Amino acid sequence: MLPNFSSKAFLAPMAGVSDPALRLQCKKMGAGLVVTEFTSIHSIIAKEKQLSEDKKTIQEFIEFSESERPLSVQLFGSDLLSLERAAKIVEPFFDIIDYNMGCPAPHITQQMAGGALLQEVNLTKQIFSTLKNAVKKPVTLKIRSGVTDASRYLFKEVAQIAEDEGIEMITLHPRTVSQGYSGKADWKMIKELKEISNIHIVGNGDITSPEDAKSMLDETGCDYVMIGRGAMGNPFLFEQINDFLKTGSYKEYSLKDRLDSFFDYLDLTTHYKIKFANIKAQAMRFTKGMVGGTKLRARISASKNLEDLKKVMRDSYHMVPPF
Ligand SMILES: Cc1cc2nc3c(=O)[nH]c(=O)nc-3n(C[C@H](O)[C@H](O)[C@H](O)COP(=O)(O)O)c2cc1C
Repeated sequence: MLPNFSSKAFLAPMAGVSDPALRLQCKKMGAGLVVTEFTSIHSIIAKEKQLSEDKKTIQEFIEFSESERPLSVQLFGSDLLSLERAAKIVEPFFDIIDYNMGCPAPHITQQMAGGALLQEVNLTKQIFSTLKNAVKKPVTLKIRSGVTDASRYLFKEVAQIAEDEGIEMITLHPRTVSQGYSGKADWKMIKELKEISNIHIVGNGDITSPEDAKSMLDETGCDYVMIGRGAMGNPFLFEQINDFLKTGSYKEYSLKDRLDSFFDYLDLTTHYKIKFANIKAQAMRFTKGMVGGTKLRARISASKNLEDLKKVMRDSYHMVPPF
């Protein structure tokens, strides 16, 4: 059974972005569920061997903290034996096992994983039954609508199979794989999926404000919404959505608040092994929208180490109003 979620707004898995520090920030700001960045089933198996020899823990390769719970781990890869094994390895540590069937990146789709699987009806059925037989924890699915424009309604067939196989919740990002991030997410498809489903549906795509989140819930009837890019450098969005859904209004946050929030993020990163390049990229996101931001981002990009970066970010306080 799915855990209880404290909010209708979830943080999307984003490789290189939704690291454990950002997830914690979003969680503290009221996200109902956070999901790890996607993880290859083959890398889990390879690391497990190493771990059993060195007596290390799963935290060596999927970092998380107890404060993130309920926490979902996202897997990708379609070799059934490896999938079964990887799911069993991660199951004890996570509350939900999520399966990725949406990633459009060529290096993923070429290995018959991510969004490419949407057109492999037999294989998807086997993937779902393998996962369901391997673990007792709830299994969920994240999909795009289809592969190409001609196959943009594949989600209906895949969702039916998933439901029949016991998948408990489906997140739909209604763009096709070949669309990448172009155009607009077609929220009508989320409504159509909700109408044919008997399991929880999470709507995803292009939510950047509390008003967007409410519109998606109202227009599609979906049970939850998932936010990716809108939460980048902006963990406040979860509190704002929760308040807006409850009271119809929400607190605005200033650019100074965003800078403060970046320093909170930095404090949290000290507990994890997050690559410096990724931390720099987060700094760019927390400063999005600042006047003089282009120059600032060039300085961020040029910073060589954490001390450099902190100095650049401290200097940037003079660029925002003190209120
Ligand atoms: C940088 C980046 C990394 C992503 N990584 C993942 C991932 O690891 N797993 C996944 O299912 N989706 C991933 N996505 C897709 C998002 O979870 C989400 O479906 C998509 O961004 C649409 O939602 P949005 O409009 O709120 O951003 C990623 C998106 C971005 C921008």
